[in-house]
This record gives sequence, C-alpha cells and structure tokens, in this order.
Amino acid sequence: MTNFDVIVIGGGPGGYVCAIRCSQLGLKTACIDASPALGGTCLNVGCIPSKALLHASHQLHEAKHNFAKMGLISEPPIINWKKMQEYKDIIIRQNTQGIEFLFKKNKVQYINGHARFTNKNEIQVDGKTYTGNNIVIATGSEATSLPGIDIDEELIVSSTGALSLKKIPNRLVVIGGGVIGLELSSVYNRLGTEVTVLEYQNSITPEMDKDISKNLQRILKQQGIKFETNCAVNAVRKYKNKLTVKYKNNKTESSEIIEADIVLVATGRKAHSKELSFEEIGGTVDERGGIETDIRNLTNLSSIYAIGDVTNGPMLAHKAEEEGIAVAETIAGQKSHINFNHIPNVIYTNPEVASVGMTEEMLKENDKDYKVGKFNFAGNGRAKLVFSSAGFVKLLTDNKTDRILGCHIIGPNAGDIIHEVCVAMEFGASAQDLAMTCHAHPTFSEAIKEAALSCGDGAIHS
Ligand code: NAI
Repeated sequence: MTNFDVIVIGGGPGGYVCAIRCSQLGLKTACIDASPALGGTCLNVGCIPSKALLHASHQLHEAKHNFAKMGLISEPPIINWKKMQEYKDIIIRQNTQGIEFLFKKNKVQYINGHARFTNKNEIQVDGKTYTGNNIVIATGSEATSLPGIDIDEELIVSSTGALSLKKIPNRLVVIGGGVIGLELSSVYNRLGTEVTVLEYQNSITPEMDKDISKNLQRILKQQGIKFETNCAVNAVRKYKNKLTVKYKNNKTESSEIIEADIVLVATGRKAHSKELSFEEIGGTVDERGGIETDIRNLTNLSSIYAIGDVTNGPMLAHKAEEEGIAVAETIAGQKSHINFNHIPNVIYTNPEVASVGMTEEMLKENDKDYKVGKFNFAGNGRAKLVFSSAGFVKLLTDNKTDRILGCHIIGPNAGDIIHEVCVAMEFGASAQDLAMTCHAHPTFSEAIKEAALSCGDGAIHS
C-alpha cells in the first residue's frame, strides 16, 4: 500500500502515538522511521535507557548505604558493567518491540527507511513514493555541542555515548547542569566515578524554581558530585586518551583546566529537521531548524503537521505524545486541546524533582499575589522509612482565590506524585480542594496534602 490518509515521519513517542491514534480513529496510517528500531530517542538512547541505569545504580546506592540500617547485612555488590549494559539493552528491546506489536495490532503500516518530501503530499523512501492526505513530522531532536568541541561518542560524548561507555570512567566532566547532565552525573557518581559538572549559569537547572535548584544542588553535592557554576567552557583537548577541559569562571574571571577520562556535553538539543527536504518544498523552519507551527501543530503547508521535539515547546516525550494525539484528533475532524501550562517536568535524580505550572520567580515577575504552602518530607513517615526525607513539596496558589498556580517537589517518587496536582490544576482546583481530599496513609502523596493544608490553617506534621 502506498496511499494513506496519514503518513507519520518518525516513530518516537510523538510519532508512534500519533500513528496509533490515527489508526484507531479510522484513518489509513503509515509510520516511517529510519532507525533500526522504533521508539526514537526516548526508547533507544534517552528516557528508557537512562532510567534503567539510574535504577540499577540506585540499587547499588541502597545496598551500600541503607541495607545494613535495615538489618540486611551483606557485602556491597560488585559492579558488572557488561551485565548492567545488557540489562539496559534488554529493556530497550522489550520496549521497541512492543511498539512494533502495537503497530500490528492497530494496523499501522511500518516503513523502515529515510523519508524525504517531494511535495506537500508526497514522500520518497529509498526510491519508493508514498502519498498522504496528511503528513505529520515527528523527527525529534539531536544533541548539540559547543563551538570547537566535536562529539566523537567515545571520549567526548553526548547522552547517547554516555549511556553505552565501554567502561565506567574514573573521572567524568559534564558540561551543562540541566536534566541530562544531572541524571547521568547521578548514574556515574553512584558507580564510583569522580564527577564534576560545569554549568554556565549561576545555578544548575536554571529554568526551575530556585528553591528546588538550590536544594537539588546541595543534595547532589552531599552525594559527591562536584559543581562549578558560572563556567564558560572554551575547549576540550584530547591527549593520549585523556582529556583536558579549559573553562573560564565568569565570576572570578579565572581560567581553569580540569582533566577527565570522559567529557559529556549536555548543553541542550536541537530540532532534527535537516534531511527532510521540508524547506525545499516551501516549509518554514526557525534559525535552529525547529519547524514552525500554529496552535493546532499545522505548519505553513496545509497538509503537514509537526509535533514533539522538532517543533516549539519543551523537549519532553510526554509533550510529544499529547501533541500526537491532538493532531490525530484534528485530522479526524475532532476537537482537541492541550494545556501547555500543565505539562509536568521530572528529573530522575535521587531524590526526584518534579514541577508543574508557574515557578515562584515567574509569579514575582508577573506581579501575582500568591501564597506558598510548603511541607518538608522530614514530616512524612513513609519518606523517613525509605531514608529519603530530604526535600519538600512547594505549592503556589493565588492568594485571593486559592487556585493552584504551580507545584514544585523534590523528594521520593516526585515524578509520580506530581500528577494529582496536574489533574487538580486541569480542573481549576484550589489548595483547599487538595487538602480536603483524603490521602492514603502512609504515602509520599500525603506531603502534597500537607503542603495544601499549609496554604490554609496549617499543616499537621510540621
Ligand atoms: P537542558 O536545557 O535541560 O540543560 C542544558 C544546561 O546546559 C543548562 O543548564 C544550560 O545553562 C547549560 N549550558 C548551556 N550552555 C553551556 C555552556 N556553554 N557551558 C556550560 N553549561 C551550559 O538540556 P539537556 O540537559 O541537554 O536536555 C535536553 C532536553 O532533553 C531538555 O529539553 C530536557 O528537558 C530533555 N530531557 C528530559 C528528560 C526528562 O524529562 N527527565 C531527560 C533528559 C532530557
């Protein structure tokens, strides 16, 4: 079959979800992907493999630091890096093969090859032509580097290379204290590597609520990760399999050099749109290659949509999925809506960080009359028993209406428990609504109820 109602280019979380939903809505759908396996960055070299290594290294941390406290006396486990990599690769395979299964189940035609536009309804893959009444670009993003620093994925790596290093390095320098930098720093720090993070801004995770980034940096420092902020990296030099990283500290004006076995460049990603010939057929892209769209994810060409990392907004798998579903619904003639203010953001360090909505800094900038309800996990029984009571829930509400405007959590399972706040915000709930909802005991979620209570007459356990 070569004629479709919808052709989706890219089989990552945005693309594969879009293709499945299109098919479920009765549209004849194909999904084209050039990689050997479906799943895009997220499943192959991003979210899933990084979480596998985070999980494995966290177990090591537990064995080393907490087992004996619970009466589990044993030698700390020995790391078998090859086996840990195999575990990660098995998880990747299970997930990517799962998408192939879902495609078969939902009658999505999977085409393995590189897609290129020949006009706004026509695509070529390896010399074969396919036509689509609608085409969805979901080609994701790729790692960027800094001027003069070439990523070889052996010694100077992006997140892709960092997930599959040949051996655990003695010294790792991470350029960029954002999400990727901190998650992979945590992995290698737990595996015994000496990790130094060089961050350009004056704090790590500069976009997050300052209360969170300050505490996250403090906690990760206690865990052994070194941080240098206000750092402008000038060069990375290779010498006999060793690296030197040259940077200037913008605060002290001093020039510094640090040695490393591996350098991870984690200074952001850029849209992956170049090889599509989209501009050649009249498509508009911004200066970073991002495909411009309107609120319905429609590009300037009437039959072509773009979703996920390749277009505007945060580069998050779950944002891409939402856009995939919304575009499928639009194409099928349904009404769709995404509330971009309620997209959660999670960093899978230990403790985890999760946030949704406005930060306190944003509220100040916008002259909002707001209230802060805070609750420390030190007062949460469940957090104590898993040795994870550092951190807090910070709820930001409108001072007059009590409506929830934002929530920022650093603490155990933050990435899971944030969702009750997302739902509450979606329904326009107040802190009192959360506070009046019965929360099971003992759960980490009780900290959210307590933060909500502290927006009113006060929390009980603080
Ligand atoms: P990022 O934008 O999160 O962080 C990049 C960091 O590098 C920032 O702190 C920035 O100030 C710093 N930086 C930029 N230029 C620098 C320089 N010259 N020297 C030193 N520091 C510099 O980007 P990251 O971590 O590469 O992640 C890329 C994307 O992938 C993000 O949009 C992120 O949200 C997404 N992602 C999400 C994950 C999750 O949801 N858990 C996991 C991994 C990635």
